[in-house]
Amino acid sequence: MKSHSGKVASDICKRFPKSPYIGTYYGTEPALLIQDPDLIKHVLTTDFYHFNSREIAKYTTKEVTTMNMFFTYGERWKLVRQNTTSLFTLGKTKNMYPLIAESANVFEKLLDRETKVSKVLEVREIGARYTIDVIISCIFGVNADTMSGCKADTEKNPFRVLGDMLFAVSPIRGMKNIARSIWPAIFYGLGQKMFSEDIEISFRDILENVFKERQYKPSTRNDFADLILTLMNEKYIVADSLKKLEREAGEKIRMERDNDLLIAQCSTFFAAGFETSATTFSMTLFELAKNKEAQEKAITEVDEYLRRHNNKLDYELVNELLYLDACISETLRLYPILPLITREVVEDCVLPTGLQLNSGMRVHLPIYHIHRDPKHFSDPEEFRPERFCSETKEDIAPYTYLPFGAGPRICMGIRIAKMQILTGLVTLLKKYRISLAEGMATSIEIEPKILVFQPVGGIRLKFEPREGWEERMF
Ligand code: HEM
Repeated sequence: MKSHSGKVASDICKRFPKSPYIGTYYGTEPALLIQDPDLIKHVLTTDFYHFNSREIAKYTTKEVTTMNMFFTYGERWKLVRQNTTSLFTLGKTKNMYPLIAESANVFEKLLDRETKVSKVLEVREIGARYTIDVIISCIFGVNADTMSGCKADTEKNPFRVLGDMLFAVSPIRGMKNIARSIWPAIFYGLGQKMFSEDIEISFRDILENVFKERQYKPSTRNDFADLILTLMNEKYIVADSLKKLEREAGEKIRMERDNDLLIAQCSTFFAAGFETSATTFSMTLFELAKNKEAQEKAITEVDEYLRRHNNKLDYELVNELLYLDACISETLRLYPILPLITREVVEDCVLPTGLQLNSGMRVHLPIYHIHRDPKHFSDPEEFRPERFCSETKEDIAPYTYLPFGAGPRICMGIRIAKMQILTGLVTLLKKYRISLAEGMATSIEIEPKILVFQPVGGIRLKFEPREGWEERMF
């Protein structure tokens, strides 16, 4: 637990820079570390059928939370993914924008209040309060109210408590994480659980209240709660079979509706939606605080955007704030939220190189390493958003930049993530210039006790009000 798995994988890859893959051990279990982009493409996309599981597939039904779409695999994954895809179309996400703008207004007030108390703020904490508010309102149609009180008030907020249950870091949690992923048979044999059952109980209560308010009929919001309500009224859930990718076209799968499985999806969207974006938001601010030139360019772009739109936030910011978007992309290159993407072989297969892989074999894709490999990105340790500007973006080789994964299991929420992070950044940069707080280190240590990227000790930044901010009020 001294180093993050993404960093460990990177150190191994650096010892064998010319090998397309390296046989390693994850604890006591063999794992294949693949660093060649063509083979990564093979695993994520071309031969998805054989690699459709994340890891320890057989054990994902041992807990309700791990039945969620992120952890599950095979036909169960396909059923859930296909039946929830409609929530993330361009039209649906655009319709969510007014809710995000509403959260940004409350976020503006939160910043005003907090900066009156102290010029130094921990931006991961305030970022999480903002992104929980956005996700809960977009997905469940509920006001999470994470931003009205002070930090101590939010610690008791039910959604904040849920967030902590999913992502809190502690030595015991770290040990459990490792034990579960390396020795699942022993872990579950001893009756252990990774996630508290209170998570699903709380989500069940939240949904029940929303359903009651909607009188158990889907509303016009067409959000996640409506979708679950519709599916709960069906006898069967139907999707195209994964086998279709392999064999006969048109094959369908059908599963009797399972309310536990449906409720488990709440934690997917909540967990995948807020923590990832809060970290990316705060790491972008961290890099802008260190890189004054980039911060000035971002500020100029924000001011021009607000002038053109009479200080109104709208969906167009996704298409117009290209430099700020490049800053987010560059941040995700340096700090990918999943520094190691995992897959598991679900049926014996052969790689294009002739390497035979047996069912159950772990496959690890070292995203953190690939993003910082000088073969793919020159001066890789430097924060250079220009890499992602329109003229140079095309120089990035396929499958060397994977902050959202790729293939059929690619992140479902890319658009929502971009919308909420960009909107949060506009809200902050229109009013403040930021710099590192006294004593804040210039490089970040990654928390080793958790599988997603988390900076150790938070991100403390100093906020200085910018000149003329009164003209840029929402
Ligand atoms: C900056 C923010 C985000 C980042 C960096 C991120 C990154 C990722 C990554 C790397 C994966 C795994 C992909 C793979 O295995 O190939 C993933 C999966 C997923 N993400 Fe995101 N994500 C973000 C935000 C969101 C948001 C806002 C939502 C939804 C509201 C979301 C929903 C999901 C879901 C449902 C999956 C599981 C997909 C599956 O297994 O089929 N993500 N995300």
